[in-house]
Amino acid sequence: MNPEKYSFDFEVYHSINDLSAADAELLHDAQAATTMAYAPYSHFQVGAMALLANGKKVAGSNQENASYPVGLCAERVLLSAASSLYPGIPIHTIAISYQGESVVSNRPISPCGICRQTLVEYETRFKHPIRLILGGKEGKIWVIPQSGLLLPFGFTGDDLGEGN
Ligand code: THU
Repeated sequence: MNPEKYSFDFEVYHSINDLSAADAELLHDAQAATTMAYAPYSHFQVGAMALLANGKKVAGSNQENASYPVGLCAERVLLSAASSLYPGIPIHTIAISYQGESVVSNRPISPCGICRQTLVEYETRFKHPIRLILGGKEGKIWVIPQSGLLLPFGFTGDDLGEGN
């Protein structure tokens, strides 16, 4: 038996003012994108904004449904939109923020499991890390250098063998 350990490095910032101008702008965009959410059931609005390799920005927000499992998270709305609007263009960075009726938006949230799997699909597809900036409307911010770090031992197309 060989014990192994999984750990990764990420950055913690005290506030949005400590980010670079470009990162602060992207997080600000994500905060603004929360207003585009359709969340009449959870009353929890998530906003995301991506910066693509071509310099374009693409937004996403959660889109819920009366049939609850049909709803989509902001991250997957964003990834599908980016891939449709700019096919073949890698995503550099995604900022994610939120607000909610029953929460104070003063700490980072991080993507759900399905969204982590989807983010890793895009990283694998473009062989390019997707950096995440996670923060509320105020408070600490986490910068994760690569989405796949949030999904250790993830399943990818490589596991399906040659040609995938
Ligand atoms: N949600 C997101 O959009 N992104 C996340 O990272 C976590 C959760 C949405 C799904 C649902 O519409 C609402 O937040 C409450 O779970």
